[in-house]
Amino acid sequence: MPPIPAPFPLSRPRRLRRAGWIRELVAETRLSPADLLWPIFVTGGETRREPVPSMPGVDRLSVDLAVEAAREAADLGIPCVALFPYTDPAVKTPEAEEAWNPDNLVNTATRAIKATVPELGVMLDVALDPYNSDGHDGLVRGGVVVNDETLLALEKQALAQAEAGADILGPSDMMDGRIGVIRRALESHDFQDVTILSYAAKYASAFYGPFRDAVGASGALKGDKKSYQMDPRNGDEALREVAADLAEGADMVMVKPGMPYLDICTRVKREFGVPTFAYQVSGEYAMIAAAAASGWVDRDRIVAESLTAFKRAGCDGVLTYFAPELARAL
Ligand code: PBG
Repeated sequence: MPPIPAPFPLSRPRRLRRAGWIRELVAETRLSPADLLWPIFVTGGETRREPVPSMPGVDRLSVDLAVEAAREAADLGIPCVALFPYTDPAVKTPEAEEAWNPDNLVNTATRAIKATVPELGVMLDVALDPYNSDGHDGLVRGGVVVNDETLLALEKQALAQAEAGADILGPSDMMDGRIGVIRRALESHDFQDVTILSYAAKYASAFYGPFRDAVGASGALKGDKKSYQMDPRNGDEALREVAADLAEGADMVMVKPGMPYLDICTRVKREFGVPTFAYQVSGEYAMIAAAAASGWVDRDRIVAESLTAFKRAGCDGVLTYFAPELARAL
């Protein structure tokens, strides 16, 4: 046999890409509706849906419509929804008491969903920002977001949520020690099965802008959240946050925002091997929705690609506003 001439490659990765069937065969990651958690905004009134201006395609839903959405999620094979309230500004106070009102919007919606679609998981955010007239996740004393006093408020909020039937609590406030306080409270009140999905590595991000709009917190927020949310320049610190939350009793952890922080997702999954989630946040949604609406990108393809990237990075699942759309496409 004559020697193979030098310019011809011996290794041809394209062999594995030449047709759809073989690409399917060798695909390393797969997206399924079971990978998705769907965040839903809940508002007052009945049979009412209000568009969120900065998130075209996302509506705030009254409790009865949130129940319908939950039914749809379950039918699509989405395992869990996450509920966020649009709180009437009149109900917001500096002490954020509405957070532990057993009949606040998210607690009411949780009871309604668990009564109608019991097979669907319901996750609630533990943080004071939707209820705090200062717009912060914690209590403000003399211009400072105070840690330990906030923990007592979060404990009350978490217990009210567990009482309402929430399956997963997602502390998103970034106070030190909150996972331990919430876990101890759950244990001592017979809620040992309530799961904690800690927003462990949550960054002080500009990508949350549209969400604050959606929950009506943008006007309220005084200053920024940099004294408690993480500095986007840090990666090692995310691992320390995750280690602390796991030691305090978190079952699963989250990285947030998503796409700009895929390196953090990979590091967390490699280092700890625990269920790891990412939140494709409101700003990520808005960027994709806006570019697609302008005809600059292909919405279906970019949605699937962005969510596949989370799986490839090591995530077990993703919170995404695209959940029902993607689940339908799958
Ligand atoms: C509040 C909270 C935020 C998000 C989820 N929970 C906003 C914030 O920290 O200001 C953001 C979600 C999104 O942008 O989609 N603790």
